[in-house]
Amino acid sequence: PLVVKADKPTAAIQPTMWGIFFEDINLAADGGLYAELVKNRSFEFASPLMGWTIQQASPGTGNILVTNRLETDSANPRYIRVTRNTAKGKFGLTNEGFRGMGIKQNEQYNFTVWAKSETGNIELHVQLVDSTGRALGESQPINISGNNWQQYKTSFTATATELKARMNVWFEGEGVADIDMLSLFPQHTWKQRPNGLRADLVQLLADMKPGFLRFPGGCIVEGRELATRYQWKKTVGPVEDRQVIVNRWNTEFAHRPTPDYFQSFGLGFFEYFQVAEDIGATPLPILNCGMACQFNSAEVVDTTQLDPYIQDALDLIEFANGDVSTKWGHLREVMGHPDPFNLKLLGIGNEQWGPQYVERYKIFTKAIKYKYPEIQLVNSVGPSPDDERFHYLNDTLRKLNADILDEHYYSSPSWFQNNANRYDDYDRNGPKIFAGEYAAQSVATVSPLNKNNWLCALSEAAFMTGLERNADIVQMASYAPLFAHVEGWQWTPDLIWFDNLNSFGTPNYYVQKLFANNKGDNVVAITSDNKTLKGSDSLYASAVTSTANEVILKIVNTSSRSISKQISIDTKRKLAAKATVTTLQSNDLNTVNSIESPKDISPLVSEAEIKSRQLNLVLHPYSFTVIHIKM
Ligand code: AHR
Repeated sequence: PLVVKADKPTAAIQPTMWGIFFEDINLAADGGLYAELVKNRSFEFASPLMGWTIQQASPGTGNILVTNRLETDSANPRYIRVTRNTAKGKFGLTNEGFRGMGIKQNEQYNFTVWAKSETGNIELHVQLVDSTGRALGESQPINISGNNWQQYKTSFTATATELKARMNVWFEGEGVADIDMLSLFPQHTWKQRPNGLRADLVQLLADMKPGFLRFPGGCIVEGRELATRYQWKKTVGPVEDRQVIVNRWNTEFAHRPTPDYFQSFGLGFFEYFQVAEDIGATPLPILNCGMACQFNSAEVVDTTQLDPYIQDALDLIEFANGDVSTKWGHLREVMGHPDPFNLKLLGIGNEQWGPQYVERYKIFTKAIKYKYPEIQLVNSVGPSPDDERFHYLNDTLRKLNADILDEHYYSSPSWFQNNANRYDDYDRNGPKIFAGEYAAQSVATVSPLNKNNWLCALSEAAFMTGLERNADIVQMASYAPLFAHVEGWQWTPDLIWFDNLNSFGTPNYYVQKLFANNKGDNVVAITSDNKTLKGSDSLYASAVTSTANEVILKIVNTSSRSISKQISIDTKRKLAAKATVTTLQSNDLNTVNSIESPKDISPLVSEAEIKSRQLNLVLHPYSFTVIHIKM
């Protein structure tokens, strides 16, 4: 039998334990989580009319001139000057959206635009159309008047559902108008917020009950070069003042290479903190440490010039936690959140390596700990435990008493199964571990052929029993990357896939969700013949108890056989008569979920009888089973 020592906790589980890693890769932000439907709304892409097509009935009807005011507005320099030469004939622009626009029948769409009129009388109206040009909804005309920039708003309801709609903006009348920041959002964003997030995608995250939200990445923090690194201060305040930059993932490994991947930062640091709070996740921002992405360039900032980077870190803590009388606390209040966001964790650098990182680590740590000793710092140990660079950093940062080390594992399914014991004999005296990015790769790391199949998810589940068993040392963990648009991805596998209207969790998502939803508060031992289950007989297991009087077992069977097991709960407490048994299973390790068939691998719930503190279970071939017992 398997024996669970339910009255003898061996380690406390941190509230942060299972969390989320968000990065703007695979159209995760613009075109994904951020619900804006207009691509290149402020004409700031490298090619200023990217995403837009000029429509005119006959030549000479009108003219679009991209105009630059860089000297007076460096954050949002470009706008378009629309000249209509004649009141006759159609003249306008079409926006293609992010691989089209997902439009829903009966949904209200809110359009905003910044505009002014030089001369004449120009009216603008907005129309959604399907791929055949059929109208799906239309606004009332907006009359642009006055020579001062102002924001105009209008709303209308869509008459049909369309995956790949486009937006026409028609200009009527005769005259000259300046136009900027054309924006279209559905009314039903997450919590109905203007400038909001896609509700179905946030709901998938909320359903995980994540312990933390790490943002904004990933390599995106670093930038390909320092000039395009992620700078949080440029992502807060009014959206029209947030400076657009090219996305570091633009075209690299692109499934469909296009030069159109930019970051609008409509989803910026305020929004990340806010959504983390909404879903009950501890915020974990990661900041650039003065080093660009080492996979792309060797650019680092001179250590004598690190001050602005360090100031960004100090100011971020003030933005998150500071009193509203402080400069950055005040901005938080102005943005609608006077209460602090309760920041406790801060990451310095992403996947960096070498002595350059250590040098910068020391400078950052000294400055941050001096002013904010209560903040726990997360430090990267580089790409992979199979890599020499990892060991150098691991050894060095341990000697320097780092708080939390961020380890990344992108490896084969067998690596995950074989490493379920990784932390069993780990040094308990050094830094805590954050398994910050991991995902089993079905083919090879960064292969575009990788699939989110059941073998990968099952292997991750086996590995995660080892993380859970060692919760005293492993205090946080997150799968990576999180999101991918089915028509615009650079990297696979990913936890959640979506198109413009639909989204689904992969088998890996359900593994993450089952662990996070059944986190518990204390680890307890689950053994067979007094031995931990970490692969012998193809079984992997961990067990926890919760302050809600539950004992929860997680058992992975990686073999093709059904295994019958008697489970004995060693406790003085009374147990409920029945256990709830939740299973993920498939006889075919290649099974995946998809937009068409989103639940091929998803939890099935049944019950098992408990008699004399024992239950008999059949562990199905290739299965992950969570057994939930009330005490
Ligand atoms: O998750 C994708 C990338 O993998 C991350 O940006 C980076 O940290 C890692 O190399």
